[in-house]
Amino acid sequence: MFRERGGAAWTLLQEQTDLQLDPLGRAAMAKLILSPGARVLDVGCGCGQTLLELAERVGPTGHVLGIDISEPMLARAAERIATSPEISLLCANAQTHPLPIGRFDALYSRFGVMFFEDSRAAFTNLRRALRPGGQLAFVCWQHPSRNPWADLPLQGVMQVLPAHTPPAFLSADSPGPFYFSSEERVRGVLAAAGFADVAIAPLEMPIHVGGAMTLEQGVAYCCQIGPAARAMADAAQELRPALESAISAALAPFVSARGLWMDAAAFVVTARG
Ligand SMILES: C[S@@+](CC[C@H](N)C(=O)[O-])C[C@H]1O[C@@H](n2cnc3c(N)ncnc32)[C@H](O)[C@@H]1O
Repeated sequence: MFRERGGAAWTLLQEQTDLQLDPLGRAAMAKLILSPGARVLDVGCGCGQTLLELAERVGPTGHVLGIDISEPMLARAAERIATSPEISLLCANAQTHPLPIGRFDALYSRFGVMFFEDSRAAFTNLRRALRPGGQLAFVCWQHPSRNPWADLPLQGVMQVLPAHTPPAFLSADSPGPFYFSSEERVRGVLAAAGFADVAIAPLEMPIHVGGAMTLEQGVAYCCQIGPAARAMADAAQELRPALESAISAALAPFVSARGLWMDAAAFVVTARG
């Protein structure tokens, strides 16, 4: 899904998105105990910020492999890792790609593991690539109702769109950004894939939405990335001004001299292979 739609916007707005997601991704990364020389797989690595952060942790004798299905996002990542020989990239579907068995000391992901068509198959594939006892840490979103940064602009957009129903991709029951908002589902998927010692910790903090310093920047960002953008992607062009006004009204109360900051809620999930 990212390959067709989100990838281009994510590539274009990589710097803004990194500002928004970095603290959440670092909280999950902090759960990994990584020695110099460790081998890490970054699942759904996107434009590569976390590859660079992981590489700092494993040092020049370590290896970080980023796997992603989006060519444009990996092209951006390739530019960023050009001077980091310890990082390599793989354009493939992490659910099905035959990864080397037992190769990695750790699996990591920043919001890249909720999109698989078959989560159990994907995590089984990933667990096989982990050495026995190796570590898993990822961050995923809690329910949209706990994420006003996502929900408020989406609700605004839904009031303008004729269908009034968000796309299935945004449902907490379909593969998409909120699919792992159910702790029960996460536990079921990881247990079925053979992971042990599963722990799910809430992570709640304000985030700097799209790194926006003004309301206009926030609106421009939310029209291109995130649930509101996804819902309005196929809307008629004549609805565009009303959609932008709705997003603007949703975001306006959250803009201050520090920029656009809104509450977010994620889970940091850890386990052992
Ligand atoms: C929300 S983005 C997060 C990107 C990056 N981790 C970050 O934090 O900036 C989700 C990423 O997962 C990737 N992805 C989705 N399905 C995938 C799959 N089946 N195999 C590999 N990557 C996938 C997307 O292309 C996208 O880069």
